[in-house]
Amino acid sequence: MESIISLELFLVKPLFLLLLPAFAAAVIWLSIGLKSSLKWKTKGLNLPPGNMGGPLSIWENITFLKSSSCDSHGDFAEQNIQKYGKIYKSYVMGEPTIFSTDIDFQRFILLNDGKLFEQHGPKTLSHILGRTSMLVVNGDLHHHLRSLSLNFVGISKLKTLFLPDINRIVIQLMKDWKENTPFRMKEEACKVTFNVMVKNVLSMNPGVEGAEELRKLYMCFMKGLLALPVYFPGTAYWKALQSRKAILSKLRRVLKERIRKKEAAGIDEFDQSDLLGYVLQNSNLSVEQIGDLLLGLIFGGHETTTSSIVMSVYYLHGCPMALKQLREEHVGIVMSKKARGDQEEGLTWDDYKKMSFTQCVISESLRLGNIIKMIRKRATKDVHFKGYDIPRGWSVILYLVSAHMDSSVYENPEKFDPWRWKRNPQSTAFLPFGQGLRKCPGQELARMETAIFLHHFLLNFEWELVESDHPMGYAIPQFLKGLPLKVQRLPTLN
Ligand code: HEM
Repeated sequence: MESIISLELFLVKPLFLLLLPAFAAAVIWLSIGLKSSLKWKTKGLNLPPGNMGGPLSIWENITFLKSSSCDSHGDFAEQNIQKYGKIYKSYVMGEPTIFSTDIDFQRFILLNDGKLFEQHGPKTLSHILGRTSMLVVNGDLHHHLRSLSLNFVGISKLKTLFLPDINRIVIQLMKDWKENTPFRMKEEACKVTFNVMVKNVLSMNPGVEGAEELRKLYMCFMKGLLALPVYFPGTAYWKALQSRKAILSKLRRVLKERIRKKEAAGIDEFDQSDLLGYVLQNSNLSVEQIGDLLLGLIFGGHETTTSSIVMSVYYLHGCPMALKQLREEHVGIVMSKKARGDQEEGLTWDDYKKMSFTQCVISESLRLGNIIKMIRKRATKDVHFKGYDIPRGWSVILYLVSAHMDSSVYENPEKFDPWRWKRNPQSTAFLPFGQGLRKCPGQELARMETAIFLHHFLLNFEWELVESDHPMGYAIPQFLKGLPLKVQRLPTLN
């Protein structure tokens, strides 16, 4: 008997200790929810149908957070849609929430972002990305940070700075690939997108002193974003906050060095060839605000664009006809370069602009891949739309995946069909980058990185999947195995 108890303790205690922080966080979370639930006055309002379940709606939360395929809504939404229709209410993440899978409703919310609604992410996002991160703040500060960011990824910067960097970084990466040796496509794409961002944010090239350390700190920082907010030495959340501190102190050093150099050179202006220089010259942001802006942009542009590259490779693998046509497009670009005597391995802006089918492949991969499946906002005023009331302070969750899988908009929506973008290039139900005030400033950059990656990949390699893999997630689908591949080199084009 005693041995059974100690065996039980031996097995259960570590599990209990592991779960204790999670349990404590859940209790805090739910009690905050309980407190906040008491302040909603909903009498007389016409709320959408649905099961609120109360702040202790553990089951609702578990089904909501359950992972599902990137091209589906998941069990939580499917069950609610069946019971209540496309707009319904529930109680998730400690807050009363209205869910929408209705395209008009979603467009209404996105187009009224900043007027009737505001940004509303989990608290951990502001702890890790920073209180003044562009992805978290609202109002005038958001407006200012957004205009700095739009300048950073404007067309002239894409042409002159990003394009040559992406070319160089992708070519260098692929030179190191070994034939028939499995690797995870996600990790390789990740190196590209991280290096492109860091080069243009801080002028830090891959391989220079401190770059690898920064990458490791950043990876640790990223893991904390998805972790439970348990601040205890050793937890992912704690490590992420430590990494944030370390990254900010590095940034502070770089910043001081820039100021020192400018003063030593006796010049009036900072070199504006990277974001840091541009922000130092054109804003009065504090060091912490600059740190939050840079981290937010690296965060916004890194994981998402990595997914765009990996999703495109994944869907092309399943569609040999699209792959063939895409290769022909890229061979054509190289041939016409050669015909005009251009021997450069890299691409020009004009070459990039010729990639029309590539853009169809990218759009279709974004449509099916749903890199961001849902967006969360909060009503800042009492809102009435389509016969329903949304009380001020309530959360609203929009499923972007609904628009992309709507069969009244996309024929056979579950099919990877890049040609649909030739037949119908403009679709108002295409929202991978959001819409309205917060529409992604990096959409052109993401497309360009994906296109250039595909160009060098298709021209130089055949590949096979080592193991099957599929993007899954409740809000941000991921390849669980990182899409493991093996490659063989193709002969160089003559
Ligand atoms: C395929 C890749 C990408 C996807 C699918 C994507 C998706 C999105 C979406 C849906 C939003 C809107 C969120 C909302 O309304 O709350 C957004 C915002 C944002 N994205 Fe992207 N993004 C991508 C690439 C990038 C890149 C390359 C950058 C880097 C410049 C970037 C930086 C940002 C930033 C800073 C915001 C916040 C904008 C604001 O609050 O005004 N994204 N992104």
